[in-house]
Amino acid sequence: MNSFSDNIVSWYKENGRHDLPWRKNISPYSIWISEIMLQQTQVKTVIPYFNKFIEKYPNLDALLKASEDEILAQWSGLGFYRRAKNIYKACRVISEDFNSKLPTNINDLESLPGIGRSTAGAIMSIAFNEGHPILDANVKRVLGRYKKISFKTENEKQKKLWLISEELTPNKESFEYTQGIMDLGATHCSKSRPSCDLCPVSNDCASAFEEVSNKVSLRKAIQKPTIKLNFILPHTKNEILMHKKQTSEYWESLWIPIDGNEVKVKGGQKYSKIKVNHPLSHLNLDMKIKTFEIDKKYDLNSNLEYKWIKKSKVDEYAMPTPIKKVVSAL
Ligand code: ADE
Repeated sequence: MNSFSDNIVSWYKENGRHDLPWRKNISPYSIWISEIMLQQTQVKTVIPYFNKFIEKYPNLDALLKASEDEILAQWSGLGFYRRAKNIYKACRVISEDFNSKLPTNINDLESLPGIGRSTAGAIMSIAFNEGHPILDANVKRVLGRYKKISFKTENEKQKKLWLISEELTPNKESFEYTQGIMDLGATHCSKSRPSCDLCPVSNDCASAFEEVSNKVSLRKAIQKPTIKLNFILPHTKNEILMHKKQTSEYWESLWIPIDGNEVKVKGGQKYSKIKVNHPLSHLNLDMKIKTFEIDKKYDLNSNLEYKWIKKSKVDEYAMPTPIKKVVSAL
C-alpha cells in the first residue's frame, strides 16, 4: 500500500456511502449492472432504476432470458439507451462464449460490449477484490488534482492519468480503495467547491486548498445542433399509436410517436398540440406533438414497425421520458 491508498481506504471505511444498494448483497452480476448504469448517470438517479432492475432480473440467468425490448423497458427514463442495448449484446456473448457465466478476468470482461477498461477495472476491484486501476470522471478529477498534471492534449491527459491510476491502485483492499476514491470524487473533491479540509489526502495533494478556476470548459460551450420533430399521436380510448425507432443518432430502438412528415395518418376532430424541448447530451430536440382522439384504430400504409399499444401497458415499453409524460396524460 502507499499512503494515498491507505488514507483513502481508512476514509472509506469510516465515511463511505455504505448504504448504496449495489454495495449490499454484492455479486459480480449486480456490480456489472450498477457500473453500467453509473457510467453516465448520477448515483441518486441510478438508485431506483438499479433496485427495479435487480428485482426484475435478480441474477444473470434471469437476465439471459430477457429480450432487448424488455431490457430497454427497464431502462426507460434513464437515458443513454445504448447501454441497455450493450447489456443485451453482452448477454448474447456471455451465453455463447462464456458458458452463461460472467467472466472473472479483466481481459474477458473488457471484451464484452459496453465494458471499457475503467468499467472492467471497477468490476474486478469491487466484485472480486482484485486491484485494477479505474478512471471515471470523478477519479480523473481526484488524481489530476492530487498530482497536478499538466498536458497539451486530451490524449496526453488521459495517458498520464492512467499511469497515475496504475501507480496508486493498491493490490489489497481493492473493494474499499476503489469505492473510496469514487466517493471522494463525488463528495469532498467536487468539481466547483472541493472541501480540502475534510479530504483524507490533502496533506500530499499538489492542488490542496487552491482556488478552483471557474472557467467554463470549452467542450461545454460548443453549441449542440437542434433537431425539429413533428410527431402525430393518434389514440383511441384505450390505445395509442407508436412506432419503434430504427438505427439513428438518438432514441434508437425506443417507442415514439409517428413522424408526421413521413407518414400521413387519419386525423380526428379532437386534437391538441404540445410543444416540448428536450436536451440530449449531443443535441437538442425541439418537438411538436399533435395528439388526436379517434374512435377506432386503423392499419398504417407504411413499412414502419408500429403498434397500437394499450394505455395500461405503456410501462412495458421503452419510451423516452418526455414522450412517456405526454402519453401518460392521454
Ligand atoms: N460511480 C461509478 N461506480 C460507482 C460506484 N460503484 N459507487 C458510486 N459511484 C460510482
